[in-house]
Amino acid sequence: MRIKKIKLINFRNYKNQTIDLNDGLNVLVGENAQGKTNLIEAIYFSCIGKSPRTKKENELINWQAENAKIEIELEKKEGSKLIEVFLNKKGKKNIKINGINILRIGELIGTLNCVFFAPDELKLVKDSPQDRRRFMDIDLSQLSKNYFYLINTYNKILAERNKLLKDTKSFDTLKQTIYIWDKQLADVGSKIIIRRIRFLNALKVYANKTHQELTSNKENLELFYEGIVEKTTEEIKQKLLKEYEINLEKDFRLGFTNIGPHRDDISILTNGIDVKSFGSQGQQRTVALSLKLAELEIFASERGEYPILLLDDVLSELDDERKNKLLNKTKTVQTLITTTNFNYKQKANILKVKEGTITSQKE
Ligand SMILES: Nc1ncnc2c1ncn2[C@@H]1O[C@H](COP(=O)(O)OP(=O)(O)O)[C@@H](O)[C@H]1O
Ligand SMILES: [Mg+2]
Repeated sequence: MRIKKIKLINFRNYKNQTIDLNDGLNVLVGENAQGKTNLIEAIYFSCIGKSPRTKKENELINWQAENAKIEIELEKKEGSKLIEVFLNKKGKKNIKINGINILRIGELIGTLNCVFFAPDELKLVKDSPQDRRRFMDIDLSQLSKNYFYLINTYNKILAERNKLLKDTKSFDTLKQTIYIWDKQLADVGSKIIIRRIRFLNALKVYANKTHQELTSNKENLELFYEGIVEKTTEEIKQKLLKEYEINLEKDFRLGFTNIGPHRDDISILTNGIDVKSFGSQGQQRTVALSLKLAELEIFASERGEYPILLLDDVLSELDDERKNKLLNKTKTVQTLITTTNFNYKQKANILKVKEGTITSQKE
């Protein structure tokens, strides 16, 4: 897929800006604090209905305005799409696809697909399991609306179960009432887990291939799902139910559910060693890049077209070989890169960003 046109009205420091994008590489060049990331943020928002950097959507509206709008013209295999996002200071969010209001964010997801890479994404191989779960959940949601609904349902049931764990005073009463939630939670939870396992199995093939190329065959990359791993959804469900039973006393004591997909993780190994704990900064960066490039391939294989690649400030973080590898990919994938200076040989649509205004310098 490709974005043809973006229009921003009162979004962050943009008053009224329209830009056309090229097929391959589009480079946003400018000093710090000019609006480069703001544009990437607008695209990402149109992709999953959320900002990658804030939960406070008021912040997205220009300080001097009451409303903001993002408009994206998209060309996909299945035809063209127009995404319009309306935000207002009172916290109202309204989204239209091809002129029709959507009722749930789930209807937006999958319309515009993005792979987003920013220095913060290093968290993926470094920090908390939460970031790795989010990584799987965002990709799987983009690949299937049904997964997005599963996650939402799961979170609702989990909140109910946790409420019961907190509110119930006696363990005996709990034992008699909790099963209502256990069945539902295991049912949805097992569907989530099986999809995550399949996703990682597909991802690891692409990720390892890229990783070997990036490390001149010196490193082998492996990914494993950390949680209940069984062959079928039913087996996972039964195992979850058993684990709820074993952990009930602990859950009761702590007041929340300790077992399930909301606690799972991904193990990432290079040459058999856990890269989260023992990898150098450089190794972790390379792994993150391998994972990002693998995401592109998963989308291409499952959806029949590449997503949009968003690279915010990552060029300066990579050495020349990795940079070239990444830039090479932009020949086939529409890419937006932000940087303070761009001096590579690649053919690119250069967009200068200054104080919320973008000027095109076609080369
Ligand atoms: N709601 C807003 N209204 C007006 N300006 C904003 C708003 N939010 C952020 N900004 C401005 O946007 C600029 C930061 O833009 P950003 O895209 O993050 O910069 P960079 O070009 O370094 O990526 C800052 O100057 C900030 O003051
Ligand atoms: Mg920035």
